[in-house]
Amino acid sequence: MEIKQQVLKILEENRGNTINGSKLAEELFVTRSSIWKAVKALQKDGYSIKAVTNKGYCLLANNDIVSSESIIPFLKGEASNFILDVLQTVNSTNTLGKELAAKGAREGTVIIAREQTEGRGRMGRSFYSPNSSGIYFSIILRPKLNLEDSLLITTAAAVAVAQAIETVAGVKASIKWVNDVFVEDRKVCGILTEASLNFENGGLEYAVVGIGINIETKDFPEEIHKTAGSLFSDKPSSSPVTSMLVAEVLNNLANCMNSLTDKQYLEEYRRRSFLIGKDIIVIKGAKTIPAKAIDIDEKARLVVEYEDHTIEALNSGEVSIRPILI
Ligand code: BTN
Repeated sequence: MEIKQQVLKILEENRGNTINGSKLAEELFVTRSSIWKAVKALQKDGYSIKAVTNKGYCLLANNDIVSSESIIPFLKGEASNFILDVLQTVNSTNTLGKELAAKGAREGTVIIAREQTEGRGRMGRSFYSPNSSGIYFSIILRPKLNLEDSLLITTAAAVAVAQAIETVAGVKASIKWVNDVFVEDRKVCGILTEASLNFENGGLEYAVVGIGINIETKDFPEEIHKTAGSLFSDKPSSSPVTSMLVAEVLNNLANCMNSLTDKQYLEEYRRRSFLIGKDIIVIKGAKTIPAKAIDIDEKARLVVEYEDHTIEALNSGEVSIRPILI
């Protein structure tokens, strides 16, 4: 680990408290001037570090720059095995995640970006990913699943995000099948799972689960400004939340992945799904068909009943859906 990263780790562990420069130097077996250089470099990266003459350095409590060092202290249990890579800007964490997965990156590798220049959503859409007001991350998984079961991964991630939002932001989060997390009537998070097939055994080679959460995002592009929202849209959070939020999603995802085959988490997915019982429009290519959403089945498909009373279980790849607004 670079000296800069080691200094950041110690400052994060002592966030809000002043750490003596000589003590830091002693602990890391380097000179005081190396510590000073590392602090300068961190400040240049935007970290709010106060240097107090004859006292030392203090990472201010309100510093909300995400780093591996700021996330790791919040990881619990199996989630501590995730390998975090935090970047300032990337085209898309999913694109990078797929490249790394194809080269053999370990299960549990997480690519986190503070900004994406080409964030991608489902159905070829883009995902608005401005600098620092949201967080964008992708997790490489290698689950023992068939391709048709990959819907289970997206739904597990949606439950993990909804739980994390409630814990960290203290607001109720619901899910719009299959991959959108809502707070009140605004979409605050989108999830994109991309998988690669192992042709020899028909199972998944890897899956990359991409999650984008709008934390304080404002000024959404015209085409989404009526539907998109953020966790703290009115006033900023009084304390930094981003690192805790990412860690909570990872903690919850590790738990949900354990119940992927016994599907326990699906009960919670159903409870949070606000489409069940609603009149919707199923969009299949050029056709729009009125239907009622009646259930989420054991494969996480949306079960709908059409007006002629026929029933169909929908896979996310096949359709778009829209609740009918009254
Ligand atoms: C959607 O709403 O259609 C899905 C949006 C998924 C966005 C996330 S942000 C992190 C990851 N990288 C991407 O390019 N997309 C996903």
